[in-house]
Amino acid sequence: MLDQFLQDKTNQRNDQYGGSIENRLRLLGEVIESVSEVFSSDRIGVRLSPYGSFNDIGDSDPVELFNAAIKKLNTYHLAYLHMIEPRSSTAGGNDQLDTKAPITSEIFRSAYQGKFISAGGYDQAMGEAVLEAGLADAVAYGRLYIANPDLAERFKQGAKLNAYNRSTFYGGGEAGYTDYPAL
Ligand SMILES: Cc1cc2nc3c(=O)[nH]c(=O)nc-3n(C[C@H](O)[C@H](O)[C@H](O)COP(=O)(O)O)c2cc1C
Repeated sequence: MLDQFLQDKTNQRNDQYGGSIENRLRLLGEVIESVSEVFSSDRIGVRLSPYGSFNDIGDSDPVELFNAAIKKLNTYHLAYLHMIEPRSSTAGGNDQLDTKAPITSEIFRSAYQGKFISAGGYDQAMGEAVLEAGLADAVAYGRLYIANPDLAERFKQGAKLNAYNRSTFYGGGEAGYTDYPAL
């Protein structure tokens, strides 16, 4: 929802929450300030999705917008900023990686002064490479973790991974949630 307010394709408001970048950043700041009244800011994380196109989201100038967002986020001393890599199109909704997509960790990591988490289309080798390059402090895994409750241990051992079953991703029961076997 915060991305919907940030990005100008979805934010079509003409009040103080829409229009200029300053206005579009307003809700993000208000939410962080509000949550900060309950939790200390170093326990609050923010996730943003530059260059995403899921559900028709988009922005005419992601570099300008997200650099402005990061500048604002730098003032809050949060636990982390988490960004998704858009190569993982439709937020993990299909298995193809878009190899021509912009790489958010390369574009934005250096602007953020705190811990930076990157997600989206990573396997073990890609995750290790982005950490070694200093372009992220941690890598988050979605689909691989759904299917492998012991993903970190499997990585450590170089073990084979369970394949995920897309048809149970949005199911309502235990199938696909708690029944993937550990090693
Ligand atoms: C079943 C499922 C539900 C998801 N729900 C959300 C969500 O609510 N919000 C979000 O920002 N991303 C969501 N995502 C995207 C993931 O957080 C992640 O960015 C995406 O799966 C790409 O990472 P991966 O390649 O490691 O799976 C979801 C992904 C899957 C597979």
